[in-house]
Amino acid sequence: MKKRYIRHASELVTCKGKAPKHGKEMADIGLIKDGAVIIHDDKIVAVGTTEELDKQVNAEEYEVLDASGKTVLPGFVDSHTHFVFGGYRADEFSWRLNGDSYMSIMERGGGINATVNPTRSATEEELVEAGRERLNRMLEFGVTTVEGKSGYGMDCETELKQLRAMKKLDEIHPVDVVRTFLGPHSVLPQWKGKEREFIEKQLTEVMPKVREEDLAEFADIFTEKNVFSVEDSEYYLTEAKKMGFKLKIHADEIYQLGGAELSARVGAVSADHLLKASDEGIRQMKEAGVISTLLPATAFCLKEEYAPGRKMIDEGCAVALASDLNPGSCFTNSIPLLVALGCIYMNMSIEEVITALTINGAAAVDRADRVGSLEPGKQADIVFLKFPSIHYLPYHTGINLVETVIKNGETVYHKEWV
Ligand code: NIG
Ligand code: FE
Repeated sequence: MKKRYIRHASELVTCKGKAPKHGKEMADIGLIKDGAVIIHDDKIVAVGTTEELDKQVNAEEYEVLDASGKTVLPGFVDSHTHFVFGGYRADEFSWRLNGDSYMSIMERGGGINATVNPTRSATEEELVEAGRERLNRMLEFGVTTVEGKSGYGMDCETELKQLRAMKKLDEIHPVDVVRTFLGPHSVLPQWKGKEREFIEKQLTEVMPKVREEDLAEFADIFTEKNVFSVEDSEYYLTEAKKMGFKLKIHADEIYQLGGAELSARVGAVSADHLLKASDEGIRQMKEAGVISTLLPATAFCLKEEYAPGRKMIDEGCAVALASDLNPGSCFTNSIPLLVALGCIYMNMSIEEVITALTINGAAAVDRADRVGSLEPGKQADIVFLKFPSIHYLPYHTGINLVETVIKNGETVYHKEWV
């Protein structure tokens, strides 16, 4: 058995307790000063102060990791991304800088539809290779679990290819990949006016294959003006649930359509974006226990108002933060950017931001029983920061403070600060 013992962490963030954390609970990250963690193989077996755990450990049997001067946290969970795709859309970014809007670019054939052909023409191996590099960049930021969506195929073959690439990546890469089917991500010109037919095709032709090969556990849809209506989304999500998929929804991003309310009606695990969510929608999400997954880097890149994260927390919602890494609206997986936006512009405390990036992210991908906190029985997914306190995260603004990443008990990333 491989035995490792982390001791003398200046601050050890546990995020322990029931998940997800709602409202005021989000501020309690179970912080231990001079903290320690015992790891056996891939699992955490004890967490406490160094003084407490020193008594349980025979140091000779252990590889001892000295964390003095460092902050130790659970690995981050990036619970909303579209990281497997072909081609790039840098041109759209410059058009937006010149005043174009995301939706106007989409309406003239850019946007999501512009990623379809490059993704169709990429081989599965090419998608795996591109995805592998992107997972490496995530790992450097301390991300140990990521959610990834299909949605750039718009045909059965390509959707399955994207999901198979992610399944492969889950097997070969240290970062765990949770997969989501997002067939109804956009409407190609030939499907305009026939959205319900397109959804029917997903439900009858594509999704049974996704289930058969165990390619995705979540189903998602882009509910938006000029994309999929609330009615069509409700039909899709209700049917997907009957097939055994857990639900996510891209809701109330650009226009207030009632996506938040819909997520509560269908019992989604999370509703994501929510920039324009109504007060009533927020209340219903809270009642129904739907996690609000907020994606502030997308709002930043699109120059939109941030989602009302502060209000959601004050109302008692469970909030997660995620990157939304994708080739269009938000081509970044920067955790320091999320920290900065969460603290500075969304008025979240650093404790709330940490909860949103760890245990609440884990709950948003239904993995809170395994990851997202440092507690006995959980996967040993652990991040060391170069600095001694969580307060360096927003203070050393935009800087990646991650020094070491442990995944399933193994050190998978280490940076020498020289
Ligand atoms: O979450 N809003 C819809 N889907 C993605 C954007 C994908 C793209 O632009 O390629 C999002 O922002
Ligand atoms: Fe998205």
